[in-house]
Amino acid sequence: MTELNVIDLKASVQGTEILKGVNLTVKSGEIHALMGPNGAGKSTLGYVLIGHPDYKVTSGRIILDGKDITGAAPEERARLGLFLAFQNPVSIPGVKISTFLRTAYNQMHPDEKLSLKDFFNLVKSNMESVGLNESFISRSVNDGFSGGERKRFEILQMLVLRPKIVILDEIDSGLDIDALKQVSSHIQREYNEGIGFIIITHYQRILKDIRPEFVHVLMNGRIVMNGDKNLSDKIETEGYDWLKEVA
Ligand SMILES: Nc1ncnc2c1ncn2[C@@H]1O[C@H](COP(=O)(O)OP(=O)(O)OP(=O)(O)O)[C@@H](O)[C@H]1O
Ligand SMILES: [Mg+2]
Repeated sequence: MTELNVIDLKASVQGTEILKGVNLTVKSGEIHALMGPNGAGKSTLGYVLIGHPDYKVTSGRIILDGKDITGAAPEERARLGLFLAFQNPVSIPGVKISTFLRTAYNQMHPDEKLSLKDFFNLVKSNMESVGLNESFISRSVNDGFSGGERKRFEILQMLVLRPKIVILDEIDSGLDIDALKQVSSHIQREYNEGIGFIIITHYQRILKDIRPEFVHVLMNGRIVMNGDKNLSDKIETEGYDWLKEVA
């Protein structure tokens, strides 16, 4: 059982406060949808949670399984089971997918000694299930990847690395219908295995498939409303304007 607690978290980037007091608790086997207008701070929250150095926490705390990780290094957070799939995954020319995954895997699971062969097999079987063919294994990370291929690679990382709490930042944008279905079924399966999810999205489509129990709306750096599927349905038809009065 894993539990992530975000307590009155405030964070700034380049001197501008973006998160203005976020409270959120995510446990194993829960799916939380995080919605909100462009620029609300959703991706910033993801970056802050995984410890991106450009984002400075100015107050509040991030607790993972009772351990204060507010100031922990990104590698430490990853080792403890936090994973972020980026909204805009960057390419790393010269670093092969296989090398990248093996390095991350060894960091996350230092006690597991998978042979190179077993590791390749693990990666290959998961590549198939995310719809990336074998030729990708020798390609550089995201280098020349299409938009959808980048998103598929994010899901591949999730499947190979086996984190405990997963933040998916707009995983559903840029995916074709078939890939979206695959991703939804992967999320569903990992959820059944007890992984906790924060799914950042603008769209109903993925939420229809995975039916989150919790829906949160972030506006102007604060979660202004918590609800369930009815809340995302209302946003779909009415947008965010009605929440401005609440915010
Ligand atoms: N490195 C940065 N430098 C300057 N401003 C930044 C930086 N990173 C984020 N911001 C600003 O912080 C605000 C929140 O951005 P963020 O990416 O978190 O929004 P978001 O809710 O994810 O929006 P979207 O739905 O468009 O992805 C934006 O106004 C953005 O311009
Ligand atoms: Mg974003």
